[in-house]
Amino acid sequence: MMKIDILTLFPQMFSGVLGESILKKASEKQIVKYNLVNFRDYADNKHGTVDDYPYGGGAGMVLKPQPIFDAVTDLKEKSHSTNPKVILLCPQGERYTQRKAEQLACEDHLIFICGHYEGYDERIRQYLVTDEISIGDYVLTGGELAAMVVIDSVVRLIPKVLGNNESHVNDSFSTRLLEHPHYTRPAEFRGMKVPETLLSGNHRLIDDWREKESLRRTFLRRPDLLKELELTDKQKKWLQEFEKQ
Ligand code: ADE
Repeated sequence: MMKIDILTLFPQMFSGVLGESILKKASEKQIVKYNLVNFRDYADNKHGTVDDYPYGGGAGMVLKPQPIFDAVTDLKEKSHSTNPKVILLCPQGERYTQRKAEQLACEDHLIFICGHYEGYDERIRQYLVTDEISIGDYVLTGGELAAMVVIDSVVRLIPKVLGNNESHVNDSFSTRLLEHPHYTRPAEFRGMKVPETLLSGNHRLIDDWREKESLRRTFLRRPDLLKELELTDKQKKWLQEFEKQ
């Protein structure tokens, strides 16, 4: 079972996301255990203060090291895992990708640290955190939404979380290409037709069509992804065709 500890001052923010649909089922099936921790509970002062003014002055507050160090130490001691990943969500982190999700899905213990409004004392980054993650080049009010994005994308990759019908093997990005278009009935809707090949029943032709349209979509929308790929001869031929069109 994967253990996921979440350090936050706003544990309520997680109840909707972890308490519905696939993330909820994963914990009911005991594939994953979520543990929300308000790190204010670890503050060693009677006011429960977790932040302080920055040395050197300036606007904003900085999260103190003590509550977060003590919370992480306590969670490590309570778990049997040897080396949990301690993940800090922040815009300065490494940009999050499907590849990172695949790596995290192999771990047995993840600890997420979410700050709100403010910065973190640098010693948290230097001595406690193993991974800093940003979910994109924009600034959120806190790490909570980012942690939810990471947790969602990781948990669905753990074996047996998704049923066969929801499988992730054809996801955009796991194949390193964007997904091909999908269609369902009717074959013609208000004059708009489903491509003939998909109605043919010929699975070799259908697989070929899907691979080609996957490549076309990637070429048109995310050509940057193609640079990282080793293309087959067939795919190279298709690309030349798209370039001419
Ligand atoms: N906290 C604030 N903005 C963030 C971002 N883009 N990614 C991760 N954590 C954040």
